[in-house]
This record gives sequence, C-alpha cells and structure tokens, in this order.
Amino acid sequence: MTEQAQNKAPAFTAQVMTIYPDMFPGVLGQSLAGKGLNEGLWALKTLDIRDFTRDKHRSVDDTPAGGGPGMVMRADILGDAIDHARAGDGSKGPLVYMSPRGRPFDQEMAEDWLEQGGVTLLCGRFEGIDQRVLDTYDITEVSLGDFILSGGEPAATAMLDAVVRLIPGVMGKRETLAEESFTSGLLEYPHYTRPTVWRDQEIPQVLTSGHHGKIADWRLAQAEETTRLRRPDMWSSYEREPKKKSVKDK
Ligand SMILES: C[S@@+](CC[C@H](N)C(=O)[O-])C[C@H]1O[C@@H](n2cnc3c(N)ncnc32)[C@H](O)[C@@H]1O
Repeated sequence: MTEQAQNKAPAFTAQVMTIYPDMFPGVLGQSLAGKGLNEGLWALKTLDIRDFTRDKHRSVDDTPAGGGPGMVMRADILGDAIDHARAGDGSKGPLVYMSPRGRPFDQEMAEDWLEQGGVTLLCGRFEGIDQRVLDTYDITEVSLGDFILSGGEPAATAMLDAVVRLIPGVMGKRETLAEESFTSGLLEYPHYTRPTVWRDQEIPQVLTSGHHGKIADWRLAQAEETTRLRRPDMWSSYEREPKKKSVKDK
C-alpha cells in the first residue's frame, strides 16, 4: 500500500472466507482494481477457513448425512470462522454465501454493497455447506449464474470486480459508468474506433458527424433496439420507467 493510502479509510472493505486464500487478490490485484487496492481505495482481507479446524489434517469437510456423493463443509468450523470474521473491526456490509441456489448477482447488488462499505463473502467447496450455517446466520445466498463452479472463489472474484470498479477513483472517467449496460436500464449501444474503414466496413456516419445531439439520439435508439431484441425482461422494465433514459439525457 502506498504512503498516501495509509492515511485514509478505504471506501469498501471485502472479506473473503475461503480454503484457498492464495487465490486472492488474483486478478483483483491487477489493472485498475489492483491499482485501487494498492492506493487503499478499497481493502481486501482473506480469512483461511482451515485456521478454524481442530484436527491435525486441518479438515473442513465430512461425509453428507444420509449418504450420497461428495463432502460437505462442517457447520462447527464455518461457525467459528464466521464469528471471527464478523467480530473483526473491518467487518462491514452483508454476509453472503456464494451459492448456485442464490439470488442472481446484478448491478444493483454491486451498488448496494459499495454503499454499505463492504461485504463478507463465504466461498463454498465440495457439495457446499451444512444447511444449519445458513439457518443460523443472517446470510444471503448469491449466485453468479445458472452454472456450477468448482468453488465460490471465482464467483467472489467476479462480484468484487463489479463492485470495486464503482469506487470513485478506481475508474478513470465516472461518465463511463453512467452509460454502461444495466446502469441506464438498457444494454449499451455499439462502439467504434479507428480505422474509419476496416474490411470494407465503415463507422456509422452519424458518429463522425460531430453533431452531439444526433449522436446521442442514435446511441439511444441502438441501445433500445439491442435491449428489446436481446433482453425482453429488461425492455419491459425500461418501458415502465422511461425516466431512466440516461443515454439521451446526457
Ligand atoms: C461444486 S459447487 C457445489 C454445487 C452444489 N452441490 C449444487 O449442486 O448446487 C461448490 C461451491 O461452489 C460455489 N458455486 C458453484 N457454483 C456457483 C455459482 N453459480 N454462483 C456462486 N457460487 C457458486 C458455491 O460456494 C458452492 O458451495
């Protein structure tokens, strides 16, 4: 962390509970997220769940009650790890279990976690965790999507990336964020850059016209058409809330 960073509190603190602490910061230590981490704009704490084990093999899992394949992460070990994580002075925001059974992660959740100043993410492995942990704590199950990962760590990494890029100072230009897909309620319009002609395809003329009003209208029309065709669910919400038309409002 830089000297400048040591003087100010981070805008967001993520705690990750995992049996693979070396997976972090991983990609979050690179590029803009990594720069923000190094500058203290956000903080990352990893907690090794194996530190709460009681046997010499440091085992966190056991066979499923009722039989069946795979192993299940034990409630007693996870309980101690969660108590420790939540008692720490850096513990802010919700306690979240990475889970394919959870509510799908979205932009609104990313914004909410940032607003709360932090999040504690519990990464499962094996077949998952003992249900009693979920019944005991105020814990939200959140999914990265309708597929099965081998562990919660890649999901936690993706979700944290979505949050930290919203922290003021992490991304270069704040306006970029306002125009992005999901923020405006629409998928984003298409982008072009030089060369002006590539493989006989020209950049749409309106974009090189210098006419800002016409460019904004074109982008809004493109964003609306893409959303209508690709995401009927988003399109119906957008139609109900026309005030979100931020592409045109700019
Ligand atoms: C192999 S998965 C367990 C899958 C579980 N047996 C099931 O069928 O729902 C191991 C861990 O990866 C994480 N995981 C897998 N898929 C995920 C997803 N789509 N979103 C978030 N976490 C996921 C969870 O923490 C889960 O406990």
